[in-house]
Amino acid sequence: MTDRIKVGIIGFGRMGEFYVEDMLGSGRWDIKYICDRSPVSRGLAAVACPSAVIISDEDIIFNDPEIQVVGLFALADSRKSQIDKAIASGKHIISEKPIGLTPEDEWDSVFRAEESGLVVAVNLYLRNSWYAQAVKSFIESGEIGELAIVRICHMTPGLAPGEGHEAEGPSFHDCGMHYVDIARYLAGSEYGTMHSQAVRMWDYKDPWWLQCHGTFENGVVYDITQGFVYGQLSLNQTHNCYFDIIGTKGVVRMTHDFKTARVELRGVTRTEVLEEKYGGKNIYRLCEAFADKLAGLESSPDKALPTFRDAAIASEFAWKCLEDSRRNVLPSIGDDATLVEIRKRRASLEDGYGLLHKRRTKKK
Ligand SMILES: NC(=O)c1ccc[n+]([C@@H]2O[C@H](COP(=O)([O-])OP(=O)(O)OC[C@H]3O[C@@H](n4cnc5c(N)ncnc54)[C@H](O)[C@@H]3O)[C@@H](O)[C@H]2O)c1
Repeated sequence: MTDRIKVGIIGFGRMGEFYVEDMLGSGRWDIKYICDRSPVSRGLAAVACPSAVIISDEDIIFNDPEIQVVGLFALADSRKSQIDKAIASGKHIISEKPIGLTPEDEWDSVFRAEESGLVVAVNLYLRNSWYAQAVKSFIESGEIGELAIVRICHMTPGLAPGEGHEAEGPSFHDCGMHYVDIARYLAGSEYGTMHSQAVRMWDYKDPWWLQCHGTFENGVVYDITQGFVYGQLSLNQTHNCYFDIIGTKGVVRMTHDFKTARVELRGVTRTEVLEEKYGGKNIYRLCEAFADKLAGLESSPDKALPTFRDAAIASEFAWKCLEDSRRNVLPSIGDDATLVEIRKRRASLEDGYGLLHKRRTKKK
């Protein structure tokens, strides 16, 4: 009991629920507090974790010397001040992305966290996926020759405009920063050039589909496509998600159906197809790696903790792509009536892509 890591969680929404479930399942965490502004979320938190003290004042967590780790799973508008308080009170941090509302805030948190010596990590969930690690290892093995092209695509009929965490940006920021991050991880280099083309679907003010391409500093070429515009009103919905990695001699690619991920390795000496559980947001793996790090255990490469710096780079670059897209024509296609129809359909869907209203914990 006493060896378990004492954690205080702030934000018990869709993501907070995943953390609580996975931390309880691991047996290495003692969730002492769950804090949320909303009485509904607090009610659900009490059901999900009866042993936790459920509160609405986050300062109780920061002022409790027993708390070792804070989990920042509310929204980006409160993240910066919570990071500041965590660092000031010497608490290690697991944070959701983005780590702030603006690049200035994000970089301030990067520098403070790096100076603090505390253990900090951000849920850039693709880095902790078995499939991204399999693709990365294959690239590093030399089986595809020299890495030349990184192509990443994520298009689903998910979060509709105006439905989600508006302040966290249009879909290319809110969700696209994950793909910006994973392209950089796979290329093993920093972004160099970039050109972005986007579309304002259904006459919404912001782009909801964006494609960018360019080069990394090491010369590797990339294209990233992200959009939640993929057949929102089709009778039977589908998606199109892949990594497509091309070398001078071979290729490695990944697709998934959100249940199973499939990696095809086509190298110079071996051809192999790997299929395993998709793994969702990989929160269990992130929390286990974090607990290992706190315990001073050697972290295997597949348990790397995504850093605040990784998150700030991905977030800033995603904002830059959105800015660039506004300089490149940015057509508006479709009308608001279609968007109203899409929102109406999503509100009544029980099973669908990225439904924010769907809570895992049920009221007693
Ligand atoms: N890493 C990923 O793949 C991923 C996926 C989805 C969401 N996210 C991020 O996770 C965060 C949470 O997303 P979500 O989908 O769980 O949102 P959500 O709206 O379902 O939940 C947010 C919860 O935080 C609470 N809250 C808001 N401000 C608060 C504050 N200042 N203090 C205490 N509680 C507060 C709300 O009442 C709500 O219960 C967002 O920043 C989002 O971008 C990350």
